[in-house]
Amino acid sequence: MKPPVIRQLLVDLNVPFALRWNGGDAFTSAFMNALSLSFPAGEQFFLDSVREGLKQLPAEQQDLFKSDVKGFIGQEATHRRLHALYNQHLLSQGMVNHWEQRAAKRIAILQQMDIRHAVAATAATEHYTAVFAHWLLSNEDFFQHADPRLKTLWLWHASEESEHRCTAFDIYQALGGSEEWRLRWMRRVTWFFLTDLLRQTVNNLWHDGSLFKLSTWASAWQHLFAKGGLFREGYSLWRDYFKPGFHPSHHPDTLSQQWLQQHTGAYAPVTQAS
Ligand SMILES: [Fe+2]
Ligand SMILES: [Fe+2]
Repeated sequence: MKPPVIRQLLVDLNVPFALRWNGGDAFTSAFMNALSLSFPAGEQFFLDSVREGLKQLPAEQQDLFKSDVKGFIGQEATHRRLHALYNQHLLSQGMVNHWEQRAAKRIAILQQMDIRHAVAATAATEHYTAVFAHWLLSNEDFFQHADPRLKTLWLWHASEESEHRCTAFDIYQALGGSEEWRLRWMRRVTWFFLTDLLRQTVNNLWHDGSLFKLSTWASAWQHLFAKGGLFREGYSLWRDYFKPGFHPSHHPDTLSQQWLQQHTGAYAPVTQAS
């Protein structure tokens, strides 16, 4: 598998966008905005964990994973920078980032522990982002009426999440992380990730004044639980993580590669990781 490529996204996020940038739909905009609010802290944690994990490997193994980790760090650093810019527009429109505050406390605890815990938590969260990325890339209609800049940002981010889906997992295995702890961390991450996502989405909707509108929850049902919805479609891919011997490469990244090939005008490769 080729190392992840670092790309500069050619999208101007300096110009503000509407809170309901996804075609005026309050729920899907608030849901994606919640995810965005988690990224600057979350992706910093992922790249710190993987970087430290690599450092703790024997020298010959470090050589094996160096290019992958370099690409991974470059991609996540680029994502977090752009989402920080994105989030400034949300905060200036009255959103409050509660997720980041909660995550910071948990990250501080994790960073006191054996590095394998942080890498396992990263690998589990990366599985979530890869499953979500797959759903977004197979449901581009989701962004049918979106601000084109944000559509490009999300699909580029999804493509790169899919592209680097193995890195944290490989470092965890190379560090001798056990299957038992791999699954234990997936259960923990599932609880924290889903409750944080729900709480931040509800909070965004509250500030947006659309929390108690029927249309908000109709959209939530349609996009998450109805046929073709994220949770219904993503469940079996998510569940694969619990299979003995699972590896993220068992899930193809065809859609990601396709999107990147079809949208070469949207980004400029910064450097090939070497
Ligand atoms: Fe990312
Ligand atoms: Fe990632």
